[in-house]
Amino acid sequence: MGIKDKKIAAFLTSASDAAKIISKSVEDEEAIRVVSHLDADGLSAAGIIAKSLLRLGGTFHVQIERWIDESLVDQIAAEKPALSIFTDLGSGYLDLLNEKLSDNRILILDHHQPVGEASSAFTQINPHLHGIDGSRDLSGAGVTYFVAKAIDKKNIDLAPIAVVGALGDLQDKYEQRKLGGANEMIVEDAISEGHLKLETDLLFFGRETRPIHKALTYVTNPFIPGISGEEDKSLAFLVSLGITPKSKEKWRALRDLSDGEKKKLFSALADYLASKGFPSEVAMGLLGNVYTLTHEEPWTPLRDAREFTVLLNATGRLDKAGLGVAICMGDRGAALEQANEVLREYRRTITKYLSWLTEKPDRIEELESIYVVRGEGVIEDRVIGALSSILSTSLPNREKPIIAYSKVSGEETVKISARTLVLLTSRGLDLGDIMRVAAEKYSGRGGGHNIAAGAHVPVKDVDSFLKLVNKLVKKQLTAK
Ligand code: C5P
Ligand code: C5P
Ligand code: ZN
Repeated sequence: MGIKDKKIAAFLTSASDAAKIISKSVEDEEAIRVVSHLDADGLSAAGIIAKSLLRLGGTFHVQIERWIDESLVDQIAAEKPALSIFTDLGSGYLDLLNEKLSDNRILILDHHQPVGEASSAFTQINPHLHGIDGSRDLSGAGVTYFVAKAIDKKNIDLAPIAVVGALGDLQDKYEQRKLGGANEMIVEDAISEGHLKLETDLLFFGRETRPIHKALTYVTNPFIPGISGEEDKSLAFLVSLGITPKSKEKWRALRDLSDGEKKKLFSALADYLASKGFPSEVAMGLLGNVYTLTHEEPWTPLRDAREFTVLLNATGRLDKAGLGVAICMGDRGAALEQANEVLREYRRTITKYLSWLTEKPDRIEELESIYVVRGEGVIEDRVIGALSSILSTSLPNREKPIIAYSKVSGEETVKISARTLVLLTSRGLDLGDIMRVAAEKYSGRGGGHNIAAGAHVPVKDVDSFLKLVNKLVKKQLTAK
């Protein structure tokens, strides 16, 4: 057995230990508390565990949280559920959990870098504990999926939801936007059961739901000057290639184009980019692996796994997390209609802030080693992470991470969302580490992944915090 297989085997053994704890708890008719994270990965994880518990006939309650803090820990300490299952969160907050819940039975199914040691009453299933990279190779939903599959093989039908979770955490960092490592095993499960199709295609967002010219307008990776953000010109570009945007009275989505049309579109875009002086590999960024959930209805945002993640994020960010979990558990119909409405509102919100950001050049401030977006008073804290992710791929200087923040409503705290690219993590940048160290210096809290991290610090300290982050980024990137 190779080293890689050994790591996976050890991780899978830990997942089946967790499965035994869960099955036994249900057998003993205990009331189980599930606490999961608010983003697409967390909601997918919640859906997977909830569906597994439902199938076992368990009694459980799902609670979705933005993060673990004192008040959540106090609440659990007061209620003292027989078993608490934390999914897609927990490992980054072991000290806090140890402090107040050390005699509670807690199961942590997470992929965040563990900070500290877990109390002996806790069982922690985390790929990092077995030398597997949890920021890229397995998501919170993925960890939960392996536990679900160990509970009952039938839960293999939840593999597509774990694929959605991984894509929600932007783990498609392998060549051509592919999921790799342990995630690949989940993709294989989903394909072998006939739930998933994997193909290389144009990566336009909205391939199932947006008119092609709109999808083209929204391409920002790469940013195509004269096309990105310009709907009329995008439409004209398509028409000039002989691609008809409508079939009968209906706008065509990318999914409706023939292979020939897609080839023509790609090579025209490649020629266009070349004519603007871009090196040829830039055009290759338009192509990549597309994950299609074959049992979902065409033209719905659930069919393209990446659109699915945005729908989930929207429900989470706009206080409709329960809807997201229900969809991950298989609800459609009215739940999907409501989720679609939430998605529309979410898109309006994001678009509003993106136009605010581009109105004036100094709204994305460039410091020596970082970019800063000061969103206080403008941007709602619940979408700051999504905006930071969007901005991170289209910064003029790709060698600097973006640090965006906004004020948490009703609190004297700011929420910071930091993002960077593989280009910098491969050179040793670890934003999770920097957020944690810098936040702790100012009596805040921070953490996360090397590529995507966040923090909460008092409003009064934000400038000093940013200065320190700037310094730490520079230090990490010039070390060695
Ligand atoms: O791990 P967690 O689910 O808390 O991640 C939060 C956010 O970090 C995700 O919603 C995603 O936007 C971002 N992320 C990223 N790249 C990664 C992992 C996470 O941009 N490799
Ligand atoms: O909130 P945001 O999407 O920016 O979070 C990015 C990553 O940082 C997530 O994995 C989140 O769990 C982590 N984070 C953290 N501590 C905070 C804020 C965010 O560990 N105070
Ligand atoms: Zn996650």
